[in-house]
Amino acid sequence: MTETTKPLLAALRGGHPDRTPIWLMRQAGRYLPEYRALRARANGFLDLCYTPDFATEVTLQPLRRFDLDAAILFSDILVVPHGLGQKVWFVEGEGPKLEPLTGTAALDALDLSAMAEKLKPVYETAARVKAALPAGKALIGFAGAPWTVATYMLEGGSSRDFLKAKRWAYGDPDGFQRLIDLLVDATVQHLEAQIAAGAEAVQIFDSWAGALDEDAFERWTVAPIRAIASRIRANHPDVPITGFPNRAGTLYESFALHAGVDAVSVDPTWTVETIARRLRPHVAVQGNLDPGRLVAGGPDMIRRVRAICDRLAPMGGFVFNLGHGVLPSTNPDHVAQVVEAVRAADADRV
Ligand code: CP3
Repeated sequence: MTETTKPLLAALRGGHPDRTPIWLMRQAGRYLPEYRALRARANGFLDLCYTPDFATEVTLQPLRRFDLDAAILFSDILVVPHGLGQKVWFVEGEGPKLEPLTGTAALDALDLSAMAEKLKPVYETAARVKAALPAGKALIGFAGAPWTVATYMLEGGSSRDFLKAKRWAYGDPDGFQRLIDLLVDATVQHLEAQIAAGAEAVQIFDSWAGALDEDAFERWTVAPIRAIASRIRANHPDVPITGFPNRAGTLYESFALHAGVDAVSVDPTWTVETIARRLRPHVAVQGNLDPGRLVAGGPDMIRRVRAICDRLAPMGGFVFNLGHGVLPSTNPDHVAQVVEAVRAADADRV
């Protein structure tokens, strides 16, 4: 099978592959017992990300169990601030913690020139996964979008209202722009290093895009992602770029039109009909089963899978996915059932 016939890549380019490609955001992780076993052997989550033996195995675990069309490199969006020199750690059960950046002065402590060396194990992992991938499966690289990564850097972890980030972004936009510009440069470098190591498509996660108003969304979500996408496309015109402006509501359409991405990953709040009419004319689309459906399982889960596939797969340019990441309490059997339902929808169509 040649590169161009991998179903995921064909769909991200707007084509009609032989079968509907499926992968799941956060397909590697705590819902898999084999992940938890390996996680227990590592010296914390970052050690897992930075040990190619571990990270390669964790990346491949979901593909050993399920007939998925892609592997997503096992890493985290917070390796970029870590690579820039910020203190980052993960507390079990609490999520990520960072020593928060305060103000413009803290920016001077961040050092892009040191990042490539620190993140070498991540690129080594990408190369090993690529070499081990079965035929027809694609390797996806990823990064967090500048706005989302900036929220973690400023808030010091997850946040409810993002007021530290917004105070700076809304109150001193030109100062905040310096941080965003640095993150644009860092993201381009990080994604290009993954591509050089073997990533065939990349996804940019803007998990907190939905927190921004329309002016801020244009400046801090659309514009930085457009800058990243155009720089990557100039050097790697064949690598499809997917953007995920999570929970951006009516701003999704502007993102699809102006962010310069090939594909948009759609959150679960979108009806399939609106995806088909408002987004698919501009970009390939990916989504959008509610991860809660995958936790609950049952006939209603399968009905949703069919509704999504039956409306969107015939249009081409469609990748089946969740609307957000797999939740830790998910039963792996439900993942197998979703994959089977996507395959059954294809079989019923021909
Ligand atoms: O399988 C994959 O999708 C690849 C690996 C991946 C991880 N994080 C591993 C991970 C990817 C693509 C991410 C992206 C990521 N990380 C995002 C964007 C996607 C999203 O969900 O919105 C964000 C916001 C983060 C930051 C992050 N990392 C948080 C908020 C947390 C804690 C929440 C949680 O699920 O634990 C993490 C930790 C993390 N990243 C884990 C994994 C497997 C769990 C760590 C553990 O084993 O304890």
